[in-house]
Amino acid sequence: MAILEIKVPDIGDFAEVAVIELLVKPGDSIKAEQSLLTVESDKASMEIPSSHAGVVKELRVKLGDKVAEGSVVLLLETADVAAVAPAAANVPATNVVSAPDRSTTSALPAPHQPTEQTQALPHLPHASPSVRKFARELGVPLNEVKGTGGKGRVTLQDVQAFSRSVMAGTVATKAITAVAEQKNSATGEGAAGAALGLIPWPKVDFAKFGPIERKNIGRIQKISAANLTRNAIMIPAVTNHDDADITDLEAFRVQLNKENEKSGTKVTMLAFLIKACVAALKQFPQFNSSLDGEQLVLKKYWHIGFAADTPNGLMVPVLKDADQKGIVQISTEMAELAKKAREGKLSPAEMTGASFTISSLGGIGGRYFTPIINAPEVAILGVCKSRTEPVWDGKAFQPRLMLPLSLTWDHRVIDGAAAARFNVYLAQILGDMRRVLL
Ligand code: COA
Repeated sequence: MAILEIKVPDIGDFAEVAVIELLVKPGDSIKAEQSLLTVESDKASMEIPSSHAGVVKELRVKLGDKVAEGSVVLLLETADVAAVAPAAANVPATNVVSAPDRSTTSALPAPHQPTEQTQALPHLPHASPSVRKFARELGVPLNEVKGTGGKGRVTLQDVQAFSRSVMAGTVATKAITAVAEQKNSATGEGAAGAALGLIPWPKVDFAKFGPIERKNIGRIQKISAANLTRNAIMIPAVTNHDDADITDLEAFRVQLNKENEKSGTKVTMLAFLIKACVAALKQFPQFNSSLDGEQLVLKKYWHIGFAADTPNGLMVPVLKDADQKGIVQISTEMAELAKKAREGKLSPAEMTGASFTISSLGGIGGRYFTPIINAPEVAILGVCKSRTEPVWDGKAFQPRLMLPLSLTWDHRVIDGAAAARFNVYLAQILGDMRRVLL
């Protein structure tokens, strides 16, 4: 072990530069080449890297200090003494100040190149190269971040806070809003997307190719388009597909409908799916949660939204307290909510508060699809039309009614193994609803 003095190396034409950002603190373990601090002249800012890996013992500079070539920046404890190169001809920028059995010196790597103008252009906020790099990695548009450092400088913490607010949905970046607007635009015109570095939306004179008709996009479609666009862009979503054997459940459903023929209540597979999903959500509570900043909000209620196709566009009525209701009651309420949705009569209360959503295309067809999560929920189940398939039972193929399931989940909250387990569990329940009682 040795204690090295890390010094400011040759910084070119600058006699003295100000320390404007400290990127490490005592106790930090750092890698060789890692940036230690940012300095700024009247023309440019640059980062001073470390020549060695080690642990920061003591900082010898503070914000606002003026430093010059050779100024000691910090003391670094390193086991890396053997790797210290002989002193370079120019500046001995690293001194071993305490080593049990050897003493040597080494030159620091050159400072990272000045990469920005200090007199920031109107569209270029003050930020050090490492903060810019960090923002780029997160996809954070730096010009939208309010800097809290000196002269409005954007710090690492500012970028983190901005990113958290966007994730929590309390801030929308102009870039995302612009893309949403672009996707909502009936004409596809506008410079939106440029902020994300995307090429412009294609502008085509369709009439050149044949007759066309133009229609205004409805209010509900515009609202859902904006929400879907935000959710598709901002959520790192993954979809797992699986099948559930609903042969027995379908037989039970048909029998139930016969029994209830007189009452007029029709039970569809969706009612069973809601019940089965509640059981799976209880088993895997992270699927019944929302992200709120750095916290996960686990909900102790089970309100299930279901996508309804209406003449005005997609609506999502919410069946409240599904855990406390039986299949027949769920079916009755669902039919009422779906009717209201089609008639455009849903109240705001009937469209809010869902903790999980099901989108069923079972009455229409298809095999699998990738539903978009209804933020701030963290998962959504897509269901398609069941069909009879040959299933191997170990001895022979049996005709079984199989229901295709597509579970989309937010990878920030859920991992792939949990999603696969959720689907397996859900399929088990649909295979034998008695498991709901367990
Ligand atoms: N497999 C096979 N058949 C199914 C099925 C499935 N998974 N789900 C429903 N069906 C059958 C029903 O049993 C019914 O059959 P029947 O007429 O012989 O009795 C028929 O399909 C129609 O069912 P539906 O009226 O759609 O009832 P539902 O309870 O399944 O769904 C709504 C109700 C409101 C969800 C549905 O009408 C709807 O709007 N679906 C579209 C949702 C949507 O647009 N999602 C995409 C969002 S991106």
